[in-house]
Amino acid sequence: MTILVTGGAGFIGSNFVLDWFAQGAGPVINLDKLTYAGNPANLQALKDNPEHVFVHGDICDRELVRSLLERHAPRAIVHFAAESHVDRSIHGPAEFVQTNILGTFALLEEARIWAEKQAPSRHEDFRFLHVSTDEVFGSLGPHDPPFKESTPFAPNSPYAASKAAADHLVRAYHHTYGLPTLSVNCSNNYGPYQFPEKLIPLMILNAITHKPLPVYGEGGNVRDWLYVQDHCTAIRRVLERGRVGESYNVGGYNQKTNLEVVNAICALLDEARPNRKSPHSMLISFVKDRPGHDRRYAMDAAKIAIQLEWTPSESFDSGLRKTVAWYLDNPDWVAHVTSGAYRHWIEKNYANRGEA
Ligand code: NAD
Ligand code: DAU
Repeated sequence: MTILVTGGAGFIGSNFVLDWFAQGAGPVINLDKLTYAGNPANLQALKDNPEHVFVHGDICDRELVRSLLERHAPRAIVHFAAESHVDRSIHGPAEFVQTNILGTFALLEEARIWAEKQAPSRHEDFRFLHVSTDEVFGSLGPHDPPFKESTPFAPNSPYAASKAAADHLVRAYHHTYGLPTLSVNCSNNYGPYQFPEKLIPLMILNAITHKPLPVYGEGGNVRDWLYVQDHCTAIRRVLERGRVGESYNVGGYNQKTNLEVVNAICALLDEARPNRKSPHSMLISFVKDRPGHDRRYAMDAAKIAIQLEWTPSESFDSGLRKTVAWYLDNPDWVAHVTSGAYRHWIEKNYANRGEA
């Protein structure tokens, strides 16, 4: 019943692993390189759990991957490991090509070789589940219909291009070699343990420390927000019931402009941490836009709703309230991730941005 999870010390991966154990779903081998985005503290609750085996290593290390497959004979690989931040991919795309494309290739190749050595029934039951993004589909205009699984890929950032390449490899490994693959393409996640380089945690932490809230451009770009636990449920559902070789779009039915999101965070903080002098929204500052900034993402998640009976259960209001409360209640986690290298990143991405 063991599964091999990659990137399980990151934001979605750690939520998935914690959730997996909460469901009593079986042992997990957790392979993570612990980049700046990987944090063992996310998995603190599992420190005495013998069913959680953490392996500090790189998905590009084929010998390591091979030995893990041979030793643990997992029934599935759930592949989260990636470089995941669009702005970092603009400053330095090489890591994205390395991990997201070559790393996924290394995993696929070792999985194929290992699975082909198994008895036919075991090969048939094995699953390689690849976690991908809506960004592979490109950008929508205000009135365009949402992305379907059949929408052609049109990635616009180095991050999105690297994920699209990985998606293509996954598809090819099923089509050519019969590897039993599954893919999910998901919209923007938010919730506990998200590294504060991404919009929602960055704005929460800047606001409570009275720093400017840097909204790119005029704040009109639209994202479809999904609470991370809903994504974890969707992944479990696809793993158990998804049709081999297929991909499933996952979305939150919560399209919001960035300005709406930031104002909603400010309103929650006005309630939880009232600032006597002025509302938190006074900290909003419009800064130079992200190059090539995708205007709008929206997901048509009808396939997973109809075929696998999955729909999100958290509303944006309730999910955002929980998320703000989590960051306020976990100052030690916040202090740990915002020290050292984090400051260098903030300097690099925001210092020379100026105003929009
Ligand atoms: P994250 O950046 O928080 O975590 C990534 C994890 O992968 C980290 O723990 C990191 O240490 C690990 N990692 C990176 N390179 C590695 C390597 N070479 N070998 C082993 N481990 C490595 O990312 P996230 O936001 O949790 O995203 C997880 C996955 O979900 C990614 O594949 C991402 O593309 C996808 N996704 C994310 C979102 C989102 O909104 N965050 C939405 C859709 C899809
Ligand atoms: O859509 C799914 C994707 O969502 C995932 O595949 C990525 O891994 C994940 O990082 C996320 O990408 P985005 O670029 O949409 O997320 P981010 O939080 O970086 O930005 C969300 C929006 O907010 C985007 O329009 C840019 C804007 N933004 C972001 C930051 C960090 C700002 O206005 N100011 C900021 O400081």
